[in-house]
Order: sequence, then structure tokens, then C-alpha cells
Amino acid sequence: MSTSIFGGAFHQIARPQGFPTRDHFAHTTFAIPEPAPGTALVENLYLSVDPYHRGRMDGRENGFTLHAPLEGRAVGRVLASRDAGLEEGDLVFHREGWRTHALVTAGVGGARRIRTYDGVPVHAHLGILGGTGLTAYAALTRVARLQAGEDLYVSSAAGGVGTAAGRIARLLGARRIIGSAGSADKVRHLTEAAGFDAAFHYHDGPVGELLAEAAPDGIDVYVDNVGGDHLEGAIEALREHGRIAWVGAISSYHDEHPPAAPHNLFEVVHKSLRIEGVLVSNHTNLQEELEDFLVPHLRSGQFASETTFVQGFEHTVDAFLGMLRGANTGKTLVDLTGSRSSLGS
Ligand SMILES: NC(=O)c1ccc[n+]([C@@H]2O[C@H](COP(=O)([O-])OP(=O)(O)OC[C@H]3O[C@@H](n4cnc5c(N)ncnc54)[C@H](OP(=O)(O)O)[C@@H]3O)[C@@H](O)[C@H]2O)c1
Repeated sequence: MSTSIFGGAFHQIARPQGFPTRDHFAHTTFAIPEPAPGTALVENLYLSVDPYHRGRMDGRENGFTLHAPLEGRAVGRVLASRDAGLEEGDLVFHREGWRTHALVTAGVGGARRIRTYDGVPVHAHLGILGGTGLTAYAALTRVARLQAGEDLYVSSAAGGVGTAAGRIARLLGARRIIGSAGSADKVRHLTEAAGFDAAFHYHDGPVGELLAEAAPDGIDVYVDNVGGDHLEGAIEALREHGRIAWVGAISSYHDEHPPAAPHNLFEVVHKSLRIEGVLVSNHTNLQEELEDFLVPHLRSGQFASETTFVQGFEHTVDAFLGMLRGANTGKTLVDLTGSRSSLGS
């Protein structure tokens, strides 16, 4: 392999205050290395951009280092290997994203050969079969312990975790599934295509009132992707012994100070509610179970996983910023399979 071939990478070059912009990132190039002993050279095919990257941009604990390669989930193909655990041509999941090529070692930093399934696209391992689907699955089955016949509310319902939660909840036998999202088009999509029974646009009024209209008899479980007024509204709507699987708080990720607690938090006591955080990295033991559960449905065509693809490595930052703004429906992925042109030589 010639070292005159260059790959591309994005680095963070400044800390944002409030919403990030393209100016906080820079595109860099690097000579694609030969794999050193114990490593494999991977050409990335799909990159995941995720809300947690926003938190890491702040530079607090576990923050991104400036002017250095960023961390992010990716799926790629092994081009050359000196790692006994990986062979040329293998498809691998790893965390060396935000770049076109990476050196990985099986078993280090979560890098692993992925199980491929006829009829299931490889990018599913970053979406419904990846951290996104795993988050929704763990939230419903292990944290909220959703039972058949129960009613569920999901916020940011048209996004990656949200659409996965809606679909998985249906398979688990949920009765009424209610979602909220940030545009009329997304609300329509939720009820017409994504399997939700009711949905509302959270800009249309106070979230608590909109949820009370959509779920006049209350809910049993809330999967919280948003926090703030959404969490407060859900606490109001929950029935006795209801459960909240708290996945994220995207309404406050750009705030300098942590958000105030919901004013009705004491309802947790009155109604014997349970609130529990969901951290997907604590549920990686469920990966095989998730695949065994979902793959037959994916292959049957009865289960649609939703993805917004942004084409071309050079648009990685736009994909990330767009996702934060709500430009996506379903999981947001950068598709590098047609972007070999981003490589210089
Ligand atoms: N705990 C974990 O291990 C874990 C793992 C994965 C994800 N998460 C969390 O799960 C949530 C969803 O993640 P995802 O990857 O599936 O992203 P996503 O929902 O696909 O994309 C983010 C969505 O957030 C919504 N949003 C942005 N600003 C908002 C605001 N101020 N109020 C309400 N909604 C807002 C936008 O949708 P609208 O157009 O509807 O506003 C946007 O599409 C995030 O909070 C993320 O941090 C947690």
C-alpha cells in the first residue's frame, strides 16, 4: 500500500458556548498508515454522529481533546490486517469515527467483527442493532420493564432512539404509544409511518397540556430523551407505579448550567414512580439478545428501522449539527460508501 494516499479526519479546534458551529471543527488529512503489528487498517463505511458528542465538545471530564482525532462509532471494512483477530474484508464496529480510515485492534475500545445477516444492511449496526437500538431496548426491557398492555410516551420520538423505542415497544406488546417531536411533518410521520398511536408537536403549547390531550387516561412508562418541560409533563401524566427510563436531556445540552429540576418532582413520591437513568455502556451484555430479538423482524420486512443518511465524509460536521437541530428522522449516519473522492493523494 502506498503511503502517498491520504485519508481525511475532522478535529475539534475550539470550545463552543451554546450551539456549536462548523467553525468549531477543521478538516485535516493524514497519510494512511500501514497496519502496525497487532492492528488492522479499516476503511470506514458509515459514521455515527450522536448527541453525546455535543457534551464532549465542552472539554469537561472525558471531553474531546482539541486538534486531535475525535471519538465516534463507525463501521468499516478491513483493508489490511496484522491483528490475529481480524482478516482482510471483515466488517468491523469500532469507535475511531470522524475519519475515513483508522487503525483498530479487535477487543480494544469496543472494536469487534460484526455479525452479518442476509437482508440486514451493515449500517444497522450503528442504528437499530447498534448503540441507538440497544439504548431503546435496555430502556424498555431492563429499566422501565414495559409490560404488554401498558401505555408509553416517548420524547424526541422521531429521532434514532425515539423511533427505535416506538418500534420495539410495539413488539413488546405496548398498548398506546404516544410520541412528541419538533415539527408538524415529524408528527405526521410518527402516526402515519412510524407506528405511533398519537403524537404532538412540542412547540404547539405547554408540553404538559399537549401530553394530557394526547394521553387523557395517563401513561405507564416514559422514555425521556429530552428532559426539562417534557420530563415535567410526563411526571404529571404518569399513573401510580409508573416508570421513567431517563435516556437523555437534549433540551439542555447547549446550556452552560444544568437545568432546574421539574417543579413537580414530589409527584414521584405521591404516585410511587420510579426514575432510573439509562447508560447504554452499562448494557452491552444485551447486544446478542438485541440481535436475536430484532433480526428476524428486520429480515421479515415487518420492522422498519429509520435512518437519515448524509452523503460524503466532507459533510460529517453538517450531519452532526443538523441532527442537533432536528434535521433528521431516525438515526443520523454519514455514508462514506460513495465518497472515495474525499481522499487526496
Ligand atoms: N444514555 C445513553 O446511553 C444514550 C445513548 C444514546 C442516546 N442518548 C440520548 O438519547 C437522546 C436521543 O438521541 P439520538 O441519538 O436518538 O438523537 P436523535 O433523537 O436522533 O436526534 C436528536 C433530536 O433531538 C431533538 N431536539 C433537539 N433539540 C431539542 C429540544 N430543545 N427539545 C426537544 N427536542 C430536541 C431533535 O428532534 P426534534 O425535531 O423532534 O426537536 C433531534 O432530531 C439524546 O438525548 C441522547 O443524548 C442517550
